[in-house]
Amino acid sequence: MRVVAIVTGLVSLGVLTAAQALAAWDDFTNLLYTEKHLTDAFTKYVATGYINHSPLVTGNGIDTTLGELSAIVPNVDSQLQRAFVGWDKDGTAYGTAHTKVIGNATMGIPNSALVDMIRMVGTCLVEHYDVQQAVDGTAPNPIAFF
Ligand SMILES: *[C@@H]1O[C@H](CO)[C@@H](O)[C@H](O)[C@H]1NC(C)=O
Repeated sequence: MRVVAIVTGLVSLGVLTAAQALAAWDDFTNLLYTEKHLTDAFTKYVATGYINHSPLVTGNGIDTTLGELSAIVPNVDSQLQRAFVGWDKDGTAYGTAHTKVIGNATMGIPNSALVDMIRMVGTCLVEHYDVQQAVDGTAPNPIAFF
């Protein structure tokens, strides 16, 4: 089919529609945070040379990141609030996820508000930034964080 051929061509060139990029990001964040299938999420979407700016990791790459996340994600309750993909003026895509994290007192992990932002090439996740705020119940705003 002509349409299929065109779509396949676009995918192989790394030119994805917004819907395809969003579907990949939605699947990744769901696998990671809701289903807690960390290895599946990373095997499916994360680039080998993954660049990670998280202050919690000791280096780049999938293995280091999975090591860090495996110590945290299975032991907390990560409640996705919103997940979306956007493009900057140069056409670079970023997947963004806003997550309410119910921490784990036993492990000393506080409740927090987390935002992940990951640069995408096609449906591949290549570079990660995050910002995390502790939620300790002392904020003056009654609707603080969420
Ligand atoms: C908190 O972490 C411990 C492991 O240190 C785990 O056994 C427990 O299930 C975790 N609690 C929750 C709510 O995930």
